Amino acid sequence: MKALLYNKKASPHQLIYCDTDKPTPSDDEVLVKIIAVSLNAADYRSMKMRIIPKKKIFGADIAGCVESVGKNIRQFKPGDDVLGDLADYGFGGLAEYALAPERLIVHKPAALSFENAAALPMAAVTALQALRDKGNIQKGHEVLIIGCGGGVGTYAVQLAKYFGATVTGVCSAHHVEQTYSLGADVVIDYTKEDFTKTKKWYDIILAVNGNYSVLACRKILKPNGIYVAVGGALSQISKSIFFGWTMSLGSKKIRFLVAKANQKDLEFIVKLAENEVIKPVIDRYCSLDQAAEAMSYARQGHSKGKVVIKV
Ligand SMILES: NC(=O)c1ccc[n+]([C@@H]2O[C@H](COP(=O)([O-])OP(=O)(O)OC[C@H]3O[C@@H](n4cnc5c(N)ncnc54)[C@H](OP(=O)(O)O)[C@@H]3O)[C@@H](O)[C@H]2O)c1
Repeated sequence: MKALLYNKKASPHQLIYCDTDKPTPSDDEVLVKIIAVSLNAADYRSMKMRIIPKKKIFGADIAGCVESVGKNIRQFKPGDDVLGDLADYGFGGLAEYALAPERLIVHKPAALSFENAAALPMAAVTALQALRDKGNIQKGHEVLIIGCGGGVGTYAVQLAKYFGATVTGVCSAHHVEQTYSLGADVVIDYTKEDFTKTKKWYDIILAVNGNYSVLACRKILKPNGIYVAVGGALSQISKSIFFGWTMSLGSKKIRFLVAKANQKDLEFIVKLAENEVIKPVIDRYCSLDQAAEAMSYARQGHSKGKVVIKV
């Protein structure tokens, strides 16, 4: 099969489009013929940190058609359309075929295109778990989403609106219009205004991207407010992990999310997408032989929503 393989020496992207062995499913695996894959920060960050999948194939978010199943598989059969997030299973999506365990994939409704389906799993489930599980979002909450222009951020805006919150998004100028179109009530262009100095206070702050002071964010939390660290610069994340507990003394809380892929949350997201309550924002589409350039583009960290590879 064709695949995009990591190769440290491959210039300029360290990825090569080439032939490799088609995988064979074990008794507990589903073999998926990949139709679309979307890129995530997990791909380019793992690559940067030299955390390389065993088979050297990145690509977590997949959508495709079941080719064959192992003898212990109960929920899927050949011909079923599926989507899922394989980051917890060694990636492998940037290829014509990938193996998935039953617990990480769900059925794809016919109303959802393969491209839109592939744009959902990791980013949308992360946004859901950050707002609902870590942020305990409630109707009427004031929510600030820092870094609302990318994969996770665009879903976070839409999900926060779905949960009945008032949403302020923080992004650069080229995402402002898009963020309003996703339902945000206020959008702050971080190149023009410091969101920590607007004299507004929030019930939930989601730090999705950027590199901002956790203490400055804590100051604009309301009493009982929750700051959820999702991503961004390593210094922003590590401060929340290592000093979060001291900053959580008192009523304001600093939490860190480690999103966990699971069928229940993905099914919830798929239902919302099927009913057009949330819609994937897709920056660009590429073919598998262009995926190395697409990865370098995503790695710059300024894409408008998701980058989708049509396999
Ligand atoms: N904790 C978890 O379990 C988990 C799960 C998934 C992802 N993550 C993390 O979440 C982060 C976002 O992932 P993603 O897939 O959404 O990435 P992404 O799509 O690559 O994010 C790109 C977006 O980041 C925005 N951005 C860059 N610098 C910014 C800044 N200084 N201030 C505000 N926004 C800025 C960009 O907007 P502009 O062009 O406007 O700058 C762009 O739209 C990553 O750090 C990722 O590692 C964590």
